[in-house]
Amino acid sequence: MEQNRESILKLPTHVTIIMDGNGRWAKKRGLERLNGHQAGIESVRASTELAAELGIKYLSLFAFSTENWGRPKEEIEGLWGLMIKAIGDETPTLMKNNIRLRVFGDLEGMSENLQKQIYECIERTSHNTGTQLIVMLNYSGKWDIVQACNRFKNEHPDEPITEESVARYLSTADVPDPDLMIRTSGEERISNYMLWQTAYTEFYFTPVLWPDFRKPDFRKALEVYSQRERRYGKV
Ligand code: IPE
Ligand code: IPE
Ligand code: MG
Repeated sequence: MEQNRESILKLPTHVTIIMDGNGRWAKKRGLERLNGHQAGIESVRASTELAAELGIKYLSLFAFSTENWGRPKEEIEGLWGLMIKAIGDETPTLMKNNIRLRVFGDLEGMSENLQKQIYECIERTSHNTGTQLIVMLNYSGKWDIVQACNRFKNEHPDEPITEESVARYLSTADVPDPDLMIRTSGEERISNYMLWQTAYTEFYFTPVLWPDFRKPDFRKALEVYSQRERRYGKV
């Protein structure tokens, strides 16, 4: 593993992934979309494992967007079922690997069973000090910016909104902005994801569909990132 780490010279602190292509993966095989989501869980497992092995501090995953409510009811309910099971099944592995689960997004709108499972896992893993696995659920970038402004204004009605105050009230306030954003499935767009936080993020797009994305694909993205020169507007 040490040797593997050496080939990635510059390790990102925070990697975020737009996990996309589950439906197409299933369709290609004549399966239901939900089978694609099910298969994608193995990719979550592999990516989390590699992040923990390499010592990546934050891995955030876009699991359900505000816009995804527009999907058929059966797909949405199927997804909740898969998530409830996955969180329950994976909690012991998270404990074993010292991984802390966090979930950001508008959780009040989610099923009660899912909320319960999420809060239990968050609580159980809250003292783990290794990789933070952050699941973005019922999340959108515009939602996050608006809720940040509203909460700030509630608490500080007489102060002007500044970049610093917005950043402080975003759901991701105590997490550094992503260094690397990976999107699978060949789509090259942000889809209302972390709009504020990706202002200076490096983007990596791969045609690999999410259920096929495994450690070598993740490693490739990290190697490409490692070669990027980040200038932040300077020369
Ligand atoms: C990503 O895969 C998973 C979620 C958005 C929940 P998709 O379900 O978007 O798969 P495609 O894009 O239809 O192939
Ligand atoms: C983005 O994927 C949302 C998640 C991965 C959770 P979508 O499949 O919903 O995005 P669009 O509709 O192709 O932009
Ligand atoms: Mg998609």
